[in-house]
Amino acid sequence: MQVERKPMTREMYLEKMDEIKTIREQVQKDDKRLGYHLQPPVGWLNDPNGLCQIGDSYHIYFQYAPFNPYGGTGLWGHMTTRDFIHYEEQEPIIYPDCNWDRSGAYSGCAYEENGTYYFYYTGNVKYTDREYDYITAGREQNVILISTKDGFRFTPKRFLMGNQDFPQDMSLHVRDPQVFKKDGVAYMLLGARELRDKGCVLLFESRDLVHWKYKLRFTTETPFGYMWECPNYVEPQGQGYLICCPQGVEKKGLDYANVHQCGYFPLTYAFGEENYQLGAFRQLDRGFDFYAPQAFRDSRGRTILLGWMGLPDCEYDNKPTVEKGWQHALTLPRELVPGEQGKLLQKPLEELKAMRGEKREGYFYRKFQWKVPLLFELQLFFKKTGDFSLRIRENAWLEYRKQVLSLDMSCCGRGRTTRGVKLARIEKIHIFSDSSSLEIFINQGEEVFTTRIYDSMENLQVELVSQESEGRGEWYELRP
Ligand code: FRU
Repeated sequence: MQVERKPMTREMYLEKMDEIKTIREQVQKDDKRLGYHLQPPVGWLNDPNGLCQIGDSYHIYFQYAPFNPYGGTGLWGHMTTRDFIHYEEQEPIIYPDCNWDRSGAYSGCAYEENGTYYFYYTGNVKYTDREYDYITAGREQNVILISTKDGFRFTPKRFLMGNQDFPQDMSLHVRDPQVFKKDGVAYMLLGARELRDKGCVLLFESRDLVHWKYKLRFTTETPFGYMWECPNYVEPQGQGYLICCPQGVEKKGLDYANVHQCGYFPLTYAFGEENYQLGAFRQLDRGFDFYAPQAFRDSRGRTILLGWMGLPDCEYDNKPTVEKGWQHALTLPRELVPGEQGKLLQKPLEELKAMRGEKREGYFYRKFQWKVPLLFELQLFFKKTGDFSLRIRENAWLEYRKQVLSLDMSCCGRGRTTRGVKLARIEKIHIFSDSSSLEIFINQGEEVFTTRIYDSMENLQVELVSQESEGRGEWYELRP
């Protein structure tokens, strides 16, 4: 669906918010509202932006279009949390109100130095009064800087770079800055599309956080999609990974089944040098609803990742919430930890344990059937796994056959069908169920399936049917 991307000032926002009071109230009453995920107060949400910790609060900004559940004019919405379970709504911090960003304040990051938080984002500008295809003509993507000490009050916007500052063989799609420092030098990543339709990530460097010089581009030898969005360099426990979202990659067996991809390359690179090495690309998530994640380091040194629990341009939908005036949410926060063979493991953040109600527990041999509440967490520890079918809630199924684990959402997914992954062994399945979402972590977090779910939400159960599987399960009602 084509949506309008129009300029909007803070005054216009406040006035329009007032006008949609009743829609907002209706949204809050929707039974599909999530119990412990960050979701838009009204309207549309996409990418997490500017993730950072200031004092003991985490600030989570996000791509926000409050006035239309299908998206459109993009602001930076803002929420704060101390526990990653309860989120407090704050006023948006960026409005598309100037010539550099008037068709949308697109995605960006936060970088902290000496108590100042520098926010870099992409100002999107689209022209219709001249020739345009939005790829090579009719658009600008500008890097803009604002800064803050408290996460609420910001300095005026400052223009840093426009398309003329990017390498000449780039299309006009260059966006989503991420900034970090290595050995005293600041680096900026930008997701990009070369003119010859090859995706890459541009690397710039700076000594003063304001003036940037192009250094090199990270890309694959043979093209892997035409555009790489939302790059993130992360370094948990000293291991480097380049996360990005390649668009235009063809489905290959079980892989790349979504319309756009999201994953990571192990990256070996001594920052400042000319040569680097990208390892094999792996998907971060195997489900239907995961895209544009962003990671940051908190004061405890954890690398925490949140994704957009949604995807653009997909063939399935979220009509039940759209009808109520809202769409999409962010995923649960996940700690990133290096695994074996270049893998990046995702672990649900420890803080989430605070939601656990009374523990229920049971051993199983071949089968079990347990009644579960709507909001639950379940862990299955397998002593032995044969092929199995695991019913989740009403009629979502996780199946394991011939070393392929697949999630079947055909009965409750609004067009979502099946997604799968090859896995030689299954030791653990860890499920988080929220009213209209499921996140399923496999083994130590080596694979994750994230999806929205639209079932009856009543008389729910988890049921296992198998010939050989054996182990123990524990589950909790979650009380956010
Ligand atoms: C990813 C993305 C980004 C862009 C933002 C606009 O979902 O397309 O590349 O900055 O969304 O909302």
